[in-house]
Formats: sequence, C-alpha cells, structure tokens
Amino acid sequence: MAEDPDQSSRRLPSEGRVAHPVALAIFGATGDLTRRKLVPALFSMAGRGLLPDRFAVVGFARRPWDDATFRSEMEAALAEFAPGADAEAVRAFCANLHYVRGDLGQPEDFRALGARLEAVAPGQGRVFYLATAPDLFTPIVEGLASAGLVRPPFEEPWSRVVIEKPFGHDLASARDLSAAVGRHLAESQIYRIDHYLGKETVQNLLSFRFANLIFEPLFNHRYVDHVQITAAEAVGMESGRGAYYDRAGALRDMVQNHLLQLLCFAAMEPPASLDPDAIRNEKVKVLQSVAPWTPETIRRHTVRAQYTGGSVDGRPAPGFREEDRVGPASTTETYVALRLMVNTWRWAGVPFFLRTGKRLARAVTEVAVQFRVPPLQLFETVACEGDVCDLTQAEPNRLVFRIQPDPSIRLTFSAKRPSLQMVVESVGMRFSYQETWDRHLPEAYERLLLDVMRGDATLFTRSDEVEAAWSIADPVLREWSAGRPPMAYYSAGAWGPREADALLAAPHRTWHNPSATRPMSVTGPGAGL
Ligand code: BG6
Repeated sequence: MAEDPDQSSRRLPSEGRVAHPVALAIFGATGDLTRRKLVPALFSMAGRGLLPDRFAVVGFARRPWDDATFRSEMEAALAEFAPGADAEAVRAFCANLHYVRGDLGQPEDFRALGARLEAVAPGQGRVFYLATAPDLFTPIVEGLASAGLVRPPFEEPWSRVVIEKPFGHDLASARDLSAAVGRHLAESQIYRIDHYLGKETVQNLLSFRFANLIFEPLFNHRYVDHVQITAAEAVGMESGRGAYYDRAGALRDMVQNHLLQLLCFAAMEPPASLDPDAIRNEKVKVLQSVAPWTPETIRRHTVRAQYTGGSVDGRPAPGFREEDRVGPASTTETYVALRLMVNTWRWAGVPFFLRTGKRLARAVTEVAVQFRVPPLQLFETVACEGDVCDLTQAEPNRLVFRIQPDPSIRLTFSAKRPSLQMVVESVGMRFSYQETWDRHLPEAYERLLLDVMRGDATLFTRSDEVEAAWSIADPVLREWSAGRPPMAYYSAGAWGPREADALLAAPHRTWHNPSATRPMSVTGPGAGL
C-alpha cells in the first residue's frame, strides 16, 4: 500500500506540544506547594521533554536563602516527592533553579526579581505563580505592575499570572480581588487554578459525554433520577493544615471550587468548540442556573457536620477539635452535603447531590449518574453473596465516573442471574484507565503548568465563573453562621452524619458509598439461588 505522504503531519506527539521559552517566577518559593507539587511537576515535565530548551525558575520569598540553598532544598523535595528519580537528572534540573530573597513591601525587591529574570531568561515570556497566602495576591500583582514586570497582552515578553485558590473568602472579597488584579492585568493574563480541572479523569467527563453518542441522549430529566458528586477524603489535619482549614471549612475549601467544577462538567451543554471561552461560557451557565437558595432550602437541603474521634482504616483518629492548630471549640464544618437543582430545560427536576468531607471511611472521588428505574418491574431482583441471595428492590442503572483512585468508568445494569428462576441481578461493565493505557497519568499540576506556558486558559476559571460559584456558596455560609441548620457530627472513619442520609430520602436513593458491602442475611424466596 502506498504510504500516506501526509501521515507525519497528522501525527500528534503523544505528550502534546512543548511550551514556548519561558521563565517561571514562584512567589512563596519556600512553601509547601512549591515543594510538594510545583517542583515535582516541573521535574516530571522536564523528564518527558515538555519543557522548552530555554527554561528557568526563579523562586522569590522572604527566607534568607540563595541559589544554592534553594537548589539543595528542592533536591530534597524531589527525593521525597519524586522518589527513585535519577540523581543526575535531578541535579541537571535543579541547576535551572534560581532564588531571589525579597520582601513584598519593598519595590526594589521586585526590581531585583526583574533583573534576575532578565539575566537568566533574557526576552523570554514570564509566568508569575502566586503560591502564597491569599492576602498577598493583591500586593504581589501591584508590586509586579509598579516594577514594570507585567505588560499588556500582546506585548513581548508576554506575562501571565497564576493565582492559587482560594480566590476570595466570599463573593464580596472575590469581587474585590478581581477588581484589584484587574487594574493591572487583562483577564486573558490571569490564570486562576482549580487543580481538579487538571485531573485527566475530570477532563474525561467532557470527552466521555461529547465524544460519544450513546449516553448523551440519556443525560436529562427524562432518564436521570439524580446525580451524586462525592469527594471523600480519609485525611484530616496533617502537616499543620488545621490553621488554614479551621478558617476555611469544607464549603469554601472544596465545594465552592472543586465540587462545583465537577457539577459544571457533569451538567453543561455541549460547547460549540473546544475554545477556552466556549467551554467556560457553558460552565458559567450551569452555575447561574443553580436554583437560588431560600432560608428554607438551606435548612432542608444542606448538611454541615464536624468529625469527632473515631478510627480511619483501623487507626485511631482524633476529633476535629483535638487536631493540631484547630480551636478547641471550633464550629468549622469538615463535611458538607448539598442538594442542588440545576434549572435548565435539560435538568429541571433532577437533584444533584454534592458531598465532601475529611476523615471519611475512604478516599474516593466520583460522579455517579443514577438513571430512573424502568416504568414496569417485570422481574424480581436479587442481591447475592456467593450463592446466597436476598430479594431486593430493583437496582437502577448507574454510570459512575471514578475520578480517583483507580480512575475508571462503570456502568451497572440488571442481567438475568443464571438459575432456573427468572430473576435479575445488578452487574457491571468497567473501563479502567490503568488496564487500558498502561502509562503515567499526568499529575494535575503538570497539565496546568504546561497550559499556562502555552497560553491555554481552558482549564482555568474565569472571574465570572468564580463569582457565580461564590454566589452559590455565600447564602449558605450566611445561614450557617446564624446556626441554621445546626451542626451535625460524625465519627472519624464513618461516611458522614446521619443527617446526610435524610437529604436523599426517596425510593432508590441512597448515597453511593463505594465500599458498601452487600446484604449478608439469608432471607426471602431468592435465597439459595
Ligand atoms: C485542596 C484542598 O484544594 O484539595 C484540600 O485545599 C484537599 O483540603 C485537596 O485535601 C484535595 O485534592 P486531591 O487532589 O487530593 O483530591
């Protein structure tokens, strides 16, 4: 067969395109995020040939470090967070790391940063990464602007600013922050990070829905009973996180950003293209369509809870108030469950249940779409443990997107159980990332850093999106601060408080807990099948 002369031009590099020459300045270079996430992600990208030949990192922070200290600290970080990495590769990578000691209140320190960037990466595009406490975001952007380090879009060298979460503490502070940074930067230069959007499996929600025809026609109120979005964590307040978390709480920490982003991907309409704004426009529409809260719906459709002592994975775990750097009388929620309605033509009447919490039974993030049961129940349904079966209620079909761990997509349906009786049992089909593609799934931060360097804002949140998300969270926070509904409690290691079960209470609706075991009792005529 003749070779296709165009074949090579149609071939996509398997890892995607390499970024343009760039210098990355990290504010908060001595902090945890830099060690745990940013430097390991950059190192991994370097190893996979994704960084441009001309690339440099300049760390900026108050500690009296120099280049040598920064390099040896980051070598130690890589030993911890990229275990087994080749020592030579680590040294070569760290040789591109530089450090400027600086104080945010000192204009000359910003000028020193500018001079260093010019020395190590002359004329290259610049990414300023704000990995600091949120109250420093505005002073940093102002300092960059006064030192002439951020230029208007389309001026060379280009400059972009990455802002970590939390973007504001509530709607008013998010608006203030947008206005403050917007005085110096165009929206196209601001990259607000939500690391959930960098997860392969979150992006796959979009591809699964819009690259296939068979499920999308069912994604609407005619076929879907409800959707559950769960981000359960087994961790508590390790590594001194209590200080931040006790001020934030689960609603601000996880729901306002990560869970609402998952909601957007699950509920949005197909975008007209993969253009960043085409996608973000559709996401904003979802957030704006969420039914406004009333005091009554907040009381009935939100649950806030805090963990008390218990055990996770067989190990004793303290209650939240006993955790390191948490107030002994803290009233911060460590668990949230919400029932939201998305008032669009497609989703009218379909509840979306969102829940997240610390110190839950296991760490798992899933989006589960539960379909309606067939209009007529022709068959008896059994649930079996080996050969021991119980008669049970008909199991609805469920499509479950497992984001982490063991990323997969599972479809459950009823099939005739082999026996002399006409009974059905719920069975499943499963697609697993690991079994299908035996390769490294890029870490969220790798994908997001690469996108900033390439100038692709698709996976970053726009200001109107952030504000729409705060508009959902704000009224809830206000009612909660007035004690409505009251705080519920759950033991560390449980799946949450009892009050959360009442949110779903309806036939065929229970929380889909991945570790739930099947009934063990031997009762009913189905037994022994
Ligand atoms: C962060 C939150 O944004 O996300 C943490 O601040 C949370 O509290 C973390 O633990 C969860 O991220 P992941 O990627 O582990 O699901």
